[in-house]
Amino acid sequence: MITSTNERAKAWAHDGAPEGALVVADHQSAGRGRFGRSWVAPAGTALLFSVVLRPALEPPRAPLIALVAAAAVRQAVEQDTGIRTAIKWPNDVLADGKKLAGVLAESLLAGSHLAAVIAGIGVNVNQENFATERATSLYGLSGRTYQRFSLLATILEEMRRRYQALLAGDSVALLAECRAHSATIGQDVVLSGGGGQIRGRAVDIDSDGRLVLDTQDGLVRAVAGEVTTGEDVP
Ligand code: BTN
Repeated sequence: MITSTNERAKAWAHDGAPEGALVVADHQSAGRGRFGRSWVAPAGTALLFSVVLRPALEPPRAPLIALVAAAAVRQAVEQDTGIRTAIKWPNDVLADGKKLAGVLAESLLAGSHLAAVIAGIGVNVNQENFATERATSLYGLSGRTYQRFSLLATILEEMRRRYQALLAGDSVALLAECRAHSATIGQDVVLSGGGGQIRGRAVDIDSDGRLVLDTQDGLVRAVAGEVTTGEDVP
């Protein structure tokens, strides 16, 4: 039994685990999502894993790692299943407008230096039911069950390609991919986080992976937050 693959990977990273160390769980007793939420999946149904990365990046660029993960998951799902997917900024993967996968990327700092990033990924694979209408699984979308480890292998390969390009200084292709498959750009949104809300039209993702919003007060660049779109905009 494991509480959370991110927690285990973080402990490993503190103990010196090398880049690429991988924690995979069949079930988590305390899976974690963004904004302190929990991430719940019945045993044996979801793909749940965390990778220890040690990128040579300045800490402000660490959010690009979450984009690497989201873009890799989106591509891998389409490749392995044929199901169309999109990225809700910053790093949710949607299918049919519902959440199919989430990414929790956590930075470990040593002073002002980025010591590690834990990229935690949860993909809803074979779940039959959800407590919310806003989530779905590959099974829910297709009526088919999928082999989780085969999807894991595809995701890791897609992550490796994007991560290596990013470290080699090429973030152009990654950002182009995130824009091209964005469920957020072009939408009127409310961005929540840090105790406040910003309302505007999402117009771009900039070279640091920030969401660019066209607001009443001009262009605003958001590093983090939760986007609400469409019918959900209050
Ligand atoms: C989110 O959308 O809020 C992010 C969800 C991330 C969930 C995954 S499941 C595997 C890894 N371990 C965790 O505790 N969380 C991430």
